[in-house]
Amino acid sequence: PQARFDILGDRVTAVLPTGESVEVLLTGATVLSWKGAVDGGAAEERLWLSEAAILDGSKAVRGGIPVVFPVFGKSPADLATSKLPQHGLARTSRWEFLGRSTSESDASSKASTNGVQLDFGLTWSAADPALKALWPFDFALLYRVTLDPGSLTTSIVVTNNETEKAFDFQVLLHTYFSVGDITQVNVDGLGGAPYSDKLEAFKVKTQAEGKVDFTSATDRIYQPEGGATQVLTIAEGGLPKYSVSRDNLPDVVVWNPWADKTKDIDDFAPKDGYKNMLCVEPGSVSGWQTLEPGDAFEGAQSITLL
Ligand code: BG6
Repeated sequence: PQARFDILGDRVTAVLPTGESVEVLLTGATVLSWKGAVDGGAAEERLWLSEAAILDGSKAVRGGIPVVFPVFGKSPADLATSKLPQHGLARTSRWEFLGRSTSESDASSKASTNGVQLDFGLTWSAADPALKALWPFDFALLYRVTLDPGSLTTSIVVTNNETEKAFDFQVLLHTYFSVGDITQVNVDGLGGAPYSDKLEAFKVKTQAEGKVDFTSATDRIYQPEGGATQVLTIAEGGLPKYSVSRDNLPDVVVWNPWADKTKDIDDFAPKDGYKNMLCVEPGSVSGWQTLEPGDAFEGAQSITLL
């Protein structure tokens, strides 16, 4: 059996014979939905999406997996990214769907279901005109969303197409995980890691050993030792739910706005929806990647259901 693909308006979907699916909005190449199954079970939604998310391209999507580029958060005033809005220009630009592919079945493999890949592209010339004027560098982004039974991988390649100019950038995959009850959730793999606490003016702290749990607003930029090698595990009620592995994305932002902060986020609904989400965001954001003309950078996250 083969996967089904569908392009309807500004959405691209792929459905595996297992019933697992992924849906991507051309605005931001934002993954809106990932329905994944564990060991032949029922496919369930794994990403959180706000009921008030704006999907017409006028704003970044509140939920799913927005792509942050070329700046994370608000840019420092003295850098080339200074005029860009928070989290940059990619998440509100309309991307191009470049095509799909199905991995061919390998005769030696016992897997009965093949995965699918959806490719999206954004170049400087095609970026939102109002935004690209604020950051004049000839970049190209290639974003590949791979759905396999029980896992989702998203990878990004950033290329500098300038002939003379280098540019500096940050990149992050802003994954909103769906959880049942945030107070029962913890993240393993960040114990002992230094982090910058955005809720205390970026104060640098060290995570206690053990797991990170959640009892109030959390907004931290972790720099785990070993860079991207550390696999993270998100568990709920003591049961491992998601593993997150990273390629070339050394930092991990962990964000939950809790009740107090969601009040100020217009497109966050329902207001108690913070109980059902956790952002764990692999990225390269604590410093800057410099890309020389003609050079490329690649980073990826791979989420496996446990
Ligand atoms: C997180 C940041 O990655 O994104 C938070 O660490 C921020 O500080 C959050 O509030 C959401 O950002 P935005 O721009 O989508 O509201």
